[in-house]
Amino acid sequence: MLSKISSTFLSLVCLILISSTNAVELPGNYTLPKSSSNLCLIARFDLVLNVEYTQIDGKKNISKIPLNNETFQYYDGTCGLNNSHTLTLTLLDNLTTITFDFSMDEKNKTSLSRVLATLTLADNEFFPNCSKYARGIHPFVTNESLFITDRSKSYRCNAQTKIDNFKSEGNVTIKSIDLQNLRIQPFVDNSIIFHDYATGKND
Ligand SMILES: *[C@@H]1O[C@H](CO)[C@@H](O)[C@H](O)[C@H]1NC(C)=O
Ligand SMILES: *[C@@H]1O[C@H](CO)[C@@H](O)[C@H](O)[C@H]1NC(C)=O
Ligand SMILES: *[C@@H]1O[C@H](CO)[C@@H](O)[C@H](O)[C@H]1NC(C)=O
Ligand SMILES: *[C@@H]1O[C@H](CO)[C@@H](O)[C@H](O)[C@H]1NC(C)=O
Ligand SMILES: *[C@@H]1O[C@H](CO)[C@@H](O)[C@H](O)[C@H]1NC(C)=O
Ligand SMILES: *[C@@H]1O[C@H](CO)[C@@H](O)[C@H](O)[C@H]1NC(C)=O
Ligand SMILES: *[C@@H]1O[C@H](CO)[C@@H](O)[C@H](O)[C@H]1NC(C)=O
Ligand SMILES: *[C@@H]1O[C@H](CO)[C@@H](O)[C@H](O)[C@H]1NC(C)=O
Ligand SMILES: *[C@@H]1O[C@H](CO)[C@@H](O)[C@H](O)[C@H]1NC(C)=O
Repeated sequence: MLSKISSTFLSLVCLILISSTNAVELPGNYTLPKSSSNLCLIARFDLVLNVEYTQIDGKKNISKIPLNNETFQYYDGTCGLNNSHTLTLTLLDNLTTITFDFSMDEKNKTSLSRVLATLTLADNEFFPNCSKYARGIHPFVTNESLFITDRSKSYRCNAQTKIDNFKSEGNVTIKSIDLQNLRIQPFVDNSIIFHDYATGKND
């Protein structure tokens, strides 16, 4: 009895600790490099992460986690060699990352070519009643060919795009990563100071 009470108390304390972490304001645009006005990448979009996981009772539940001021932690990325630029978003107390790989082909066409995600599940407010079989770190990756446009243009898509071809990993699956109200220009000409997105291709 006593141990039941104290474990209830402990989980309450844990929940309070989890939900009292500082909220971080979501940036209006993700820009790289972070401390320069000569940008190599700019993007904005709304994002919802849909995760299916097994609960303690063996049933599956889907947790819909929107990227917002409560879940967002920080972002970073690289504009590297070989026509590959990446944007990484970190959320849920820095335990979950989503990386977007953008690439540019020999005809200067840019696209979102790969999405990687690493989720860490625990029995917390985001994954209530998470089974021990679903807890822990789960990596996901999928190749894509999305948002194709010329390097000199931006890409705009207000409708929802579902990235939903992740393979399940143990007892955890990313059902989809939903992107909406998107505008991206993953290969900005960084030899000039950035003023605004280039005119867009609309979808
Ligand atoms: C994103 O950046 C563009 C170009 O600089 C700017 O016009 C727009 O207001 C920014 N959006 C937000 C939400 O900050
Ligand atoms: C399933 O997940 C949702 C969203 O996280 C949560 O609100 C709900 O309580 C969960 N269901 C159960 C039975 O734990
Ligand atoms: C995040 O907080 C800022 C400032 O309080 C607010 O303007 C913005 O609308 C919020 N964004 C979201 C997605 O909740
Ligand atoms: C770039 O491509 C070359 C040749 O394909 C390869 O040897 C090199 O490791 C790549 N560099 C990076 C940073 O990926
Ligand atoms: C997440 O990581 C960033 C960058 O390392 C750090 O500034 C921030 O305080 C971390 N947030 C939490 C909740 O650990
Ligand atoms: C791609 O862009 C580079 C730099 O702007 C340019 O020199 C090259 O001619 C372009 N290639 C094609 C196939 O358009
Ligand atoms: C956990 O599961 C129990 C029993 O199924 C349910 O009563 C409770 O609401 C669930 N907790 C959450 C946070 O969803
Ligand atoms: C994804 O693309 C990489 C090369 O970029 C390739 O090695 C890998 O096999 C591809 N994965 C799938 C599932 O097609
Ligand atoms: C998935 O959960 C079942 C029990 O529900 C367990 O037997 C199995 O080992 C788990 N699979 C993995 C890969 O963890």
